[in-house]
Amino acid sequence: MNAKIRMWFEDRIPFNREKTAETTKELLNEPIPKHMKNWFYALGVTPLILFCFMVVTGIMLTFYYIPSPEKAFDSVRYITEEVSMGFWIRGIHRWASNLMVIAIFLHVIRVFFTRGYRKPRELNWILGILMLGATFTLCFTGYSLVNNQLSYWASTVGTNMIKEIPLIGPSVLALLRGGENVTANTLTRFYNLHILIMPALLFVLIGLHMLLVRLHGVAKLEDDDKEETYPFFPEHFYHGLVIMFLLLTLISALTVILPPGLGEPADPTVTPAHIKPEWYFFAVYSLLKFIPLQAGIILIMALVIAATFWPFIDEWIRKKKPNLKTHYVVGSLTIIIFLFFTVYEILVH
Ligand code: HEM
Repeated sequence: MNAKIRMWFEDRIPFNREKTAETTKELLNEPIPKHMKNWFYALGVTPLILFCFMVVTGIMLTFYYIPSPEKAFDSVRYITEEVSMGFWIRGIHRWASNLMVIAIFLHVIRVFFTRGYRKPRELNWILGILMLGATFTLCFTGYSLVNNQLSYWASTVGTNMIKEIPLIGPSVLALLRGGENVTANTLTRFYNLHILIMPALLFVLIGLHMLLVRLHGVAKLEDDDKEETYPFFPEHFYHGLVIMFLLLTLISALTVILPPGLGEPADPTVTPAHIKPEWYFFAVYSLLKFIPLQAGIILIMALVIAATFWPFIDEWIRKKKPNLKTHYVVGSLTIIIFLFFTVYEILVH
């Protein structure tokens, strides 16, 4: 019977069985450098797993969420307080997004300090920067969907900054808000960005990123081209599975200990005393208080451009001064400045 069913499918989906088996074997035998046994080097799989958690729980949330200013807050309250396991699904979604940002930060730090972006992996670095942008947009739009006081005012202040981008700022702002102010149009746009455009973009970018990782193989440690390797299956694959179960346990525990809150419903007529974005925007938010807004936005754009093309800048410096470890200095300074402004924002409010 089984053979009959298999043949029925094989007649209708004509693939070459030997070739498929060969490709699968090749994929499973992918040589992985020995240093990837250390968890810090193998962090790339963590955001991938978290993204999958977010997609599954996000789809579940759309069954109840209503993207209209009058009903959004109430629908989130209904999910949290009345839907069976609703607070857990919402909590997993929220905590997964926070951990995804942390995991990406750690992944970027490891890639940066091991110069994993060096030739021929520059394109994968640029894809990474795009993924970082898509992840932040996903987080920012998601936070705004709750439509409570904090999320409403954070999205108002956040989108206000866009106006300061030279030349295109006002048009991008109008496009994003669907008018001059944050209204029902804005919520619909954020909803579309959050459930459709950004996840689809991230899906494609992650696919390309993984394809390049597969085609190049993971970079061996610098100055150690003779490093030993081991096959992807079973050891590396099992590491991924263990990380997945650990993450699910951690996120579930966090959801029970610190369940997602609701706050007060949005009121466009009352500005709260302290407007707070999510923690990963604290550094930028705090920095912009020290310099005029437009100068700050131009500075941030310049930093993003420098970060995008960093592999080429680093290579250029290395050709001029081969012994200079510029990436250590730049990486350490970036982390110190980021932590300084983040902690400052936490202490001030
Ligand atoms: C959704 C986010 C991301 C996912 C799922 C992801 C996934 C991965 C995976 C699985 C690897 C293989 C090595 C490892 O496990 O560490 C990798 C390598 C790499 N990633 Fe990412 N990554 C993400 C974001 C980023 C970002 C934001 C950057 C940089 C800005 C980046 C740059 C790189 C580079 C250059 C490599 C090759 C490094 C090497 O071969 O040693 N990635 N990524």
